[in-house]
Amino acid sequence: MQITILVGTMHGNASSVAQALQFSADDIQATIDVLPMDGLDITVFDQPGAFIICTSTTGSGDVPDNAQALFHSLDAQAKYLGHVRFGLVALGDSSYGDSFMGGGKQFDERLRDLGAQRVGEICVLDAMETSQPEEDAVAWLQAWAVQLATAA
Ligand SMILES: Cc1cc2nc3c(=O)[nH]c(=O)nc-3n(C[C@H](O)[C@H](O)[C@H](O)COP(=O)(O)O)c2cc1C
Repeated sequence: MQITILVGTMHGNASSVAQALQFSADDIQATIDVLPMDGLDITVFDQPGAFIICTSTTGSGDVPDNAQALFHSLDAQAKYLGHVRFGLVALGDSSYGDSFMGGGKQFDERLRDLGAQRVGEICVLDAMETSQPEEDAVAWLQAWAVQLATAA
């Protein structure tokens, strides 16, 4: 199983979560590559395998700066992504109210609009609720990998 984690981050929290997921690749018998979103566009989804969008939120529910180009290319270079299966790891802080996890939610909505299939529930990493986002994400990955293996 090949998995590519696309990382959207402002200050590195999402990168360290992605790295923890990569370290646990052997546990789920997968090969995991971690790619910062910087400079990527929709063509990244031409790669084989499944994807994990691992992104924080900035501003008022916005995608991080390094995710802007990729996110906007989902409109500017829109194409059908029916072959794409992805998981979502969304970092945020529920004290931001309605904009909680806005970055992750925007990716989720847009990718699904383009025909991509989200596998499993969103891995919600709320800074108000957890002090161990890496451990939470690794636990989520175990269940997600099982769902991915059985997804159509
Ligand atoms: C300026 C700023 C704005 C933020 N805005 C939001 C927000 O609108 N919604 C949310 O859920 N979290 C928000 N957060 C919380 C971050 O998403 C959270 O701290 C996350 O762990 C940061 O991860 P990163 O270092 O990978 O960017 C904000 C944080 C900062 C510093």
